[in-house]
Amino acid sequence: MVENRSTRRPGRLNVLCVVGARPNFMKAAPLMRAFAALDSIDACLVHTGQHYDAAMKTAFFEQLQIAEPDVDLGVGSGTHAVQTAEIMKRFEPVLDARRPDAVLVVGDVNSTIACALVAAKKGMAVIHVEAGLRSFDRGMPEEINRVLTDQLSDRLYTTERGALENLTREGIDPDRVCFAGNVMIDTLLAHRARAPSARTVLSEAGVAQELHPREGFGLVTLHRPSNVDDPETLGSLLDTLATLAEDLPLIFPVHPRTRARLEAAGLWERAAGSLLVLPPVDYLNMLGLMAGARLVLTDSGGVQEETTALGVPCLTLRENTERPITVDQGTNTIVGRDAELIRRVAAEVLRDGGKTGRIPELWDGRAAERIARDLSAWLMQRAGSRSAE
Ligand code: UD1
Repeated sequence: MVENRSTRRPGRLNVLCVVGARPNFMKAAPLMRAFAALDSIDACLVHTGQHYDAAMKTAFFEQLQIAEPDVDLGVGSGTHAVQTAEIMKRFEPVLDARRPDAVLVVGDVNSTIACALVAAKKGMAVIHVEAGLRSFDRGMPEEINRVLTDQLSDRLYTTERGALENLTREGIDPDRVCFAGNVMIDTLLAHRARAPSARTVLSEAGVAQELHPREGFGLVTLHRPSNVDDPETLGSLLDTLATLAEDLPLIFPVHPRTRARLEAAGLWERAAGSLLVLPPVDYLNMLGLMAGARLVLTDSGGVQEETTALGVPCLTLRENTERPITVDQGTNTIVGRDAELIRRVAAEVLRDGGKTGRIPELWDGRAAERIARDLSAWLMQRAGSRSAE
């Protein structure tokens, strides 16, 4: 475990923010900035180390200008039980030493539930940013993390109005819920102008010559266990993508988990032979690729939201989404693994451009500011009512 510094100052509220995996970094960055702009809060950052590679972690900290974490728990990879347990074991002494006024967790990864559970059992306030999203699919590890984290949370910030209904149904007091907007979109809007063009990204990756200048490209991301863990499922998805790639070249930055599964299943050569495979790309390059793509095929939650914000058609390679607003208002279409449906929707996009959508309410770049202000007021009120007891 690495401890960097202590930022606790007397008279200020101390909020300990947790990050663990790649999609957490984009969410924590604007929150840390918004807390720094307030006089009332000192925030510190704990990285669990769930994601640790330069490509999965360091590049994001640098580009998003996130200070090095105050504490790095260095847990690394493992089964769900091992990873979650290891985070809990290493997180507990950090809370004992720092005694923060609140522990803030984002998203739905194993680090989110692990740290929320430790904090809740210590009677500390748990704050969940991106609360109330539901896929209603308990086969998805993230769904379990989402439901349990929300149950443990004292203050819950949502990205879309429908989330409140999910939380209320699960018995959560609506007074604890605040509709604040989408912090991931704060980051997208803050960095969009800095992103290189897709052509630059592809030239630097050495694949630009494979593309016709006017034909464009599609972008693929794939890492969900339900898509990549079973070799047969992965193989048939690959066949579908290879057929699509005959009409539109497909760029495929490969997540380490997916690469490992492709190699283990003996499918790597097939993937690299039909798609333009790249190593995982950093945040700005991914933004450039998404913005320049004619369509995106993905099983990621964040990419569904980012394509909606960018107005780029997205085909979600899952049976469901916990982010229904991206379908109702945005550019997202749920296609599952149905080869025929995927081909049909992709053909429609290539023919007439596909869904254009609109930007959902409060996806305006100010969500983190709203959360910081609300949290400061909420914590002060809580401290006041506790000292009056
Ligand atoms: C995790 C999240 C998922 C999120 C995804 C984004 C959970 C349950 N899942 O899935 O919700 O969408 O992050 O990427 O928390 N690995 C590396 N280097 C790294 C990190 C991981 O090589 O820096 C490899 C390891 O082989 C590891 C595998 O990727 O076993 C999976 O990593 P893990 O954190 O367990 O889950 P993800 O699939 O990344």
